[in-house]
Amino acid sequence: MHSVSTTALESSIDHFFALGPEAIGNPEALAAFHELRTALELGHLRSASPDPISPTGWAVNAWVKRGILLGFRLGALEEMNGTHALGHSALSFVDKATYPIRRFLPEHGVRIVPGGSSVRSGAHLARGVVMMPPAYVNAGAFIDEGTMIDSHALVGSCAQIGKRVHLSAAAQIGGVLEPVNASPVIIEDDALIGGNTGVYEGTIVRSRAVLAAGVVLTRGTPVYDLPNGTVYKATAESPLIIPSGAVVVAGSRAIQTEPGKGLGLSVYTPIIVKYRDDKTDLSTTLEDLLR
Ligand SMILES: CC(C)(COP(=O)(O)OP(=O)(O)OC[C@H]1O[C@@H](n2cnc3c(N)ncnc32)[C@H](O)[C@@H]1OP(=O)(O)O)[C@@H](O)C(=O)NCCC(=O)NCCS
Repeated sequence: MHSVSTTALESSIDHFFALGPEAIGNPEALAAFHELRTALELGHLRSASPDPISPTGWAVNAWVKRGILLGFRLGALEEMNGTHALGHSALSFVDKATYPIRRFLPEHGVRIVPGGSSVRSGAHLARGVVMMPPAYVNAGAFIDEGTMIDSHALVGSCAQIGKRVHLSAAAQIGGVLEPVNASPVIIEDDALIGGNTGVYEGTIVRSRAVLAAGVVLTRGTPVYDLPNGTVYKATAESPLIIPSGAVVVAGSRAIQTEPGKGLGLSVYTPIIVKYRDDKTDLSTTLEDLLR
């Protein structure tokens, strides 16, 4: 975290955020937002950052989230036709003027394979990120070096994705913009997020964890850890946290109370069947040659 005078920017953002609708049309408010947006895109500021002192290992930068919200307030709707962005004038979109789609150049070191993907401004994609179409990255998201975002994947607003993460086809990483002090979804380095998975509501997936295809995690989802004989859940103070190296598969568990029990019903339950081993590494080896 560097190169931005964060204290000055923070007080400016907080000032204009507190003004409410009065900030609309104020050029200084817009300038402060633009400074924040640029810092986010460069990765100099993040909506949440690693913090060894915090119990979760992460600190939420609530003022940065307020700044992102300020941008939505300040932006009027405008037509964004495809002429500049996509080279195709038949396409037409309408969005907040403060959040146009990002443009990339080869020197950014990011690959965005053609075919219907968008990165909204205010998102950071580090060098070596590859995006297969179609995929969407929302404002405030931070995606670190070497991460693969496969087709139909979503990276929601403010989500923090580590280095060399594989977001498989149709992986949905939820956005958490409000409340501003709520932790966004965080996926740490070297995690493998399988196909058709969903990670929502501020869940933290620790480094090297593997979510098998079809796993869905929310604040309300208990996760059974078989090797350690324990169950992980979100609490009022802490999000759901998947431990480092856990291999989580989509399972089910029998309902123990009536009438569900008598009806023989079961509910979906993510289960940690083991912790990552050589076999997992083999199953999750990525296609380096494609990069
Ligand atoms: C989790 C995964 C990586 C397998 O890891 P692994 O370490 O090789 O797992 P193993 O084969 O050793 O299996 C361990 C146990 O979990 C079970 N298991 C493995 N994958 C499972 C799955 N997806 N669903 C349910 N159970 C599963 C196995 O049956 C085994 O149980 P057992 O010990 O009772 O026999 C793999 O199943 C997976 O989901 N890969 C991601 C695929 C994907 O989404 N690709 C995206 C491409 S875009």
